[in-house]
Amino acid sequence: MLAAGKGKRMRSELPKVLQPLARRPLLGHVLAAARALGPERIHLVVGHGADEVRAAVGDAADLDWVTQEQQLGTGHAVQMALPGIPAGAQVLVLMGDAPLVSPETLSAVIRDAGDGFGILSAVVPEPHGYGRIVRGADGAVERIVEEADADAPTRAIREVNSGMATAPAAALTGWLAEVGRDNAQGEIYLTDCAAAARAGGATVSATVARAPEEILGANDRWQRAVLEREHQRRVARGLCAAGATLMDPARIDVRGTLTVAAGVVIDVNAVFEGDNALAEGVSVGAHCVLTDCRLGPGTRVHPHSVLEGVVTEGECDIGPFARLRPGTVLGRETRVGNFVETKKAVLGRGSKASHLSYLGDTEIGAEVNIGAGTITCNYDGVNKHRTVIGDRAFIGSDTQLVAPVEVGAGATIGAGSTITKTAPPDALTLSRARQVTVENWKRPKKK
Ligand code: UD1
Ligand code: CA
Repeated sequence: MLAAGKGKRMRSELPKVLQPLARRPLLGHVLAAARALGPERIHLVVGHGADEVRAAVGDAADLDWVTQEQQLGTGHAVQMALPGIPAGAQVLVLMGDAPLVSPETLSAVIRDAGDGFGILSAVVPEPHGYGRIVRGADGAVERIVEEADADAPTRAIREVNSGMATAPAAALTGWLAEVGRDNAQGEIYLTDCAAAARAGGATVSATVARAPEEILGANDRWQRAVLEREHQRRVARGLCAAGATLMDPARIDVRGTLTVAAGVVIDVNAVFEGDNALAEGVSVGAHCVLTDCRLGPGTRVHPHSVLEGVVTEGECDIGPFARLRPGTVLGRETRVGNFVETKKAVLGRGSKASHLSYLGDTEIGAEVNIGAGTITCNYDGVNKHRTVIGDRAFIGSDTQLVAPVEVGAGATIGAGSTITKTAPPDALTLSRARQVTVENWKRPKKK
């Protein structure tokens, strides 16, 4: 896997292969495709930002790190790795910046190659920048010409090289030994193995990718963005196949895994990060961001809600404009409405916080009504404390519950109270000055 290049055109400090696609480094996608083929080993050729790449990918039992000090070309990069590869092995060369290639296509490339030199090509409308595949009258691949070395008729060829190639290790070593640096870039081209293989009587095959996107590399930020959309389009397709309705498949972003059951409906501009799972009939409104959530059957997330680490047990309503943070667990028939923030909050069946509240470090029983403006004062400036609210309690609007504190089952808290001590069950508790009206009072007048 070639990942030593600088990626100058990205105009970024981050090595090109670490640029993100769906929040995962480009290289991570290529590694996943490679691993799906069950290789003996993966040899990663790194150079620019080698330490950073190694730190981001992490060491693994199947990974072998190869350093290419000077970037003298793709053929040279492969030469750096070959000493660590058994002579009898079949080598597959992958590009660390081409994340959309599928394991199926790579298998086809290896199959078509036999014991010769095989490459993956694609027919594209705009061949600019790629090596061109030159085929003879019989259709056989004769050679690959880099754009910098191509004359006008060759540049007109629309079948281009992906950079990915396969060959038996021993043969590859032999062909690369014959490849020179007599070209426009003064590099050792892996692509020159095509001509070398032919000269040695070996076959050269080019497997044409069915979807041209599979060969695309991210050389600059625009190409990265194009690949991102293409990746998202594929994810969206998979979600539809799994039974989800997407109001617009061009306006969904999945950065991680999203599993959906049948009957899920997702409106426009929803973003899913980390690992999310949506059960049957879950609906996600427009402009929602969900991170690591597990939503039970029939959960309705209304527009503009932001959920992280949320678990719901069944039908319930969230939002619009709700902010649910990690540790939020919502029972069935609950409702967390607009401008409500929750954190480590468990709401029992049928409980409702419909507007303007902060519920943190709290355990709320069943059928509880949380009035507008209720605040759990969970932080004393040093430590966090819990608020426990029993079943069927009614918390009047604009109440502060100063934790640690407990509200008994069936208790009613009068609006505007600051509750600092246990509120007994089935009783009315309130803490506020009595209302007075001052008789004969007159508004001051301007002198
Ligand atoms: C290469 C191919 C070209 C193909 C194109 C597809 C060659 C000579 N050319 O060209 O036919 O159309 O890919 O994108 O193979 N790399 C190294 N060490 C090096 C040089 C490159 O590790 O010394 C790595 C880069 O990090 C990158 C990959 O190889 O991941 C491709 O390098 P790049 O410079 O992008 O190759 P192209 O000139 O685009
Ligand atoms: Ca490239």
